[in-house]
Formats: sequence, structure tokens, C-alpha cells
Amino acid sequence: MKALALLLALPLAVLAADKPVAKPVDAGPYVPSPQSVVADMLKLADIGPKDFVVDLGSGDGRIVLTAAKVFGASGFGVEIKDELVKLSNEAAKREGVADRVKFIKADLFKTDISRATVLTMYLLPHTVNMLKDKLLTELKPGTKILSHDYPLSGWLPEKYEQMDLEDKVQISGVTTTLIYLYLVPAKVQGQWSATVPAAVGKGALNLNLKQQVTRVSGTARLDGKEVVLEDLKLKGEQISFGLAGRKTVFTGTVRGGAIEGLVESGGAKSPWSATLAK
Ligand SMILES: C[S@@+](CC[C@H](N)C(=O)[O-])C[C@H]1O[C@@H](n2cnc3c(N)ncnc32)[C@H](O)[C@@H]1O
Repeated sequence: MKALALLLALPLAVLAADKPVAKPVDAGPYVPSPQSVVADMLKLADIGPKDFVVDLGSGDGRIVLTAAKVFGASGFGVEIKDELVKLSNEAAKREGVADRVKFIKADLFKTDISRATVLTMYLLPHTVNMLKDKLLTELKPGTKILSHDYPLSGWLPEKYEQMDLEDKVQISGVTTTLIYLYLVPAKVQGQWSATVPAAVGKGALNLNLKQQVTRVSGTARLDGKEVVLEDLKLKGEQISFGLAGRKTVFTGTVRGGAIEGLVESGGAKSPWSATLAK
């Protein structure tokens, strides 16, 4: 009892001081991407002045600096090593882009990345995969994710490039270099209730969509019949599919719990829309 009273009397600060502070996860050593890979990554994402680039583990800052200098983008890099952060901010000043880019010393796993329109990383394979939930939760649908060498397992890349580079032998022992481009998928899983033109169906069209990150499958109930959705594709917030056995193609944009788009049937295009029921 006495011991409990003593414990309760201890100032919180003393208790906090005793608590071990978790060390940031080491997502990889400092190994800069060769400059040609940086250029290829940014070109693959078709980056431009409207983009906000976030580099996770920014090293000497080359990805964000190139995005700003060559492609007119803005953004930030997050890096755990003080000296690299300092070097990158000095380079930003020297190269006249400090008004558009900055580098912060922080743990990339704890950094808010929600402003990114393009997110880049060159990190160890298992740490790339540790980030999957964070990427899906914080990034807006349609945000581009570029990963140098290591894929996000279970995600379908939107684009993919492979090349051989002598510079990589020192880094990974082989010349093979890979760049993966992903689009953050909108969340579409669930039952959707759609309104379609009379030429497509007389009653309501109900969609039942199943989603595993970037892969979507589903069925539709139209005029009392169950139809499989064909060629179902989700690219960021753009969805498209056909109805099996019918020459009908739906395209649309997913915004939260709503889809709006066009349906092409019999050579004519008409608007359709859907709302997420559950
Ligand atoms: C392979 S380098 C990539 C550098 C740069 N992105 C490039 O492609 O040239 C990985 C960087 O991540 C940094 N890093 C590792 N773990 C980190 C963490 N938890 N938070 C922030 N940076 C980290 C390392 O210090 C290193 O500079």
C-alpha cells in the first residue's frame, strides 16, 4: 500500500524519463540513387510544376532537388541523418530552390506525408513494405508512388521500368535497376447503388465490388440478373469496367462514396453515377 502511494506520488516526468525511447527503424543506409535513375523516376511519374514531391529517406536531397530544379515541382525530403539534412538544405539555397523545397530531420515512419502528389523512396525491401498501411491511409487516391528497386508486395504497378546500370554494381552487386510506379487506389470495396440510362438498364444497377489494394473484382445486378464485371480496372480514382455479354463500357471517377462518369452503349455515351450503400 505504502509502495503504491509512493509510486502515485512520483512526478510523471520521472516516470517518462525511465521509459526507453523507441529508436527509429533503420530503413536503409545512405546510398544515393544514381542521378540517371532520379531523372528516369521523375520522368516516369510525368512530374510537373503542380507536383509536391516527398522523398522518404532523402539522403543528399537529390530527388527533391532535381524535381524542383528540372521539373519545377516543390516538396520536402525527410532524413534521419543531421549532416545530410544540412547538406540538402544548403544545396537547395545554392541552387535557388529553397523557397520551394526543404529538408527536415525526422523519422520517415512518423512524418505526415499527406501533402504529396508524388512520393519517392529508395529503401530496404522490408521497410518499403512496412510503409504500405501508411501510404494507403495518408496519401490521397491518385497520388503517385515511385520506388527504386523494391516493389510494394501485393500492389499492381501502374508502370514499371527495368534497366542495367554499371553504377549499381557497387551498391547491389548487380547492374539490374528497377523503377516501380504505383497509383494510390481509391477505396471502392462495398455495395454501390447506380443510376444508369434507360438504354443500359430499366431498373437500378447494383454493383458489388471486392478490393485487394489495387485489384478489384465484382458483379452487377441489373434488371434482376447477376452479371460479372469484365476488365475491371482501378487506376487511382479512375474506375472502368464492362458488363459480361453486353457491349457496355463504364468509366468513372471515384470521390469518397460517389462515382460519376460516362457509360458507352450502342455507340452513344451517357452519364451514370453511383453511391456507396455499405
Ligand atoms: C538508400 S538512401 C536513399 C537516399 C535518396 N532517397 C536517394 O534515392 O538518393 C536511404 C536514406 O534513408 C535514410 N533513413 C533510413 N531510415 C530512416 C528513418 N527511419 N527516417 C528517415 N530517414 C531514414 C538513410 O539515412 C538514407 O539516407
